[in-house]
Amino acid sequence: MENAPTSLHTIGIIGGTGKEGKGLAYRWAKAGYKIMIGSRSIEKATLAVHDLLSVLPLGCEIVGKINSEVAQESEMVVLTVPYSAHTETLMSIKPYLQGKILVDVTVPLVPPRVTRVQMPPAGSAAQEAQKIVGEETQVVSAFQNISYEHLLNDEPVNCDVLVCGSGKAARSVVLELVKAAGLVGWDAGPIENSMVIEGLTSILIGINKQFGTVSAGIKITGVG
Ligand SMILES: NC(=O)c1ccc[n+]([C@@H]2O[C@H](COP(=O)([O-])OP(=O)(O)OC[C@H]3O[C@@H](n4cnc5c(N)ncnc54)[C@H](OP(=O)(O)O)[C@@H]3O)[C@@H](O)[C@H]2O)c1
Repeated sequence: MENAPTSLHTIGIIGGTGKEGKGLAYRWAKAGYKIMIGSRSIEKATLAVHDLLSVLPLGCEIVGKINSEVAQESEMVVLTVPYSAHTETLMSIKPYLQGKILVDVTVPLVPPRVTRVQMPPAGSAAQEAQKIVGEETQVVSAFQNISYEHLLNDEPVNCDVLVCGSGKAARSVVLELVKAAGLVGWDAGPIENSMVIEGLTSILIGINKQFGTVSAGIKITGVG
């Protein structure tokens, strides 16, 4: 276990019992952050913590709680629920997000046509989130293009992370979390740009379908 690189210590993951949330939890716990796994069910949260501790080095700090407690007690909140649960989940944790950064990982997939970009009326899931939680919470959009497939182990991930959201300082904090997870991140500008990042995921899913793969990704080239 390494030392967390910022003054931020506690990361709460709403829907952290799922595939993407558990993968990010693994990476951040290993980097030295204290992780709170959020769920609608305390039993499910406890089970996810047990699973994670069984593959993490000794000394990692992870606890499981219901979503509202996690949102209340975490310094930073990360949202990893299916788009169908996005609005309802945000409404339920909104009172606890004031003054915090909310990292929205949600992709607005509309089954069964998940390879087709279908953005909500607000423009993107992240913009929808910002409208729901209000201006007292800074929504930062990130990780939508990172398949969970390689997060729950120490393999290098061959995909960059585009980070956008209203507020350069908030984006910088999230870029530190990207680095802590062993990934390469880029400041991708204001929250309006999230529609491109979220939309890319449908294209990556389509490419995976064509080639029988599970973790197609994107890389920024030509810089540095
Ligand atoms: N999977 C990936 O590779 C990947 C990659 C990039 C982005 N994403 C995005 O990240 C988000 C999570 O993806 P995932 O694959 O981790 O999803 P998932 O495993 O299907 O679900 C994540 C968690 O969301 C909660 N949840 C499910 N249905 C819910 C509902 N109706 N109401 C409230 N909570 C509900 C569940 O937690 P509890 O039952 O414990 O409450 C579940 O464990 C999605 O928006 C997805 O598009 C996923």
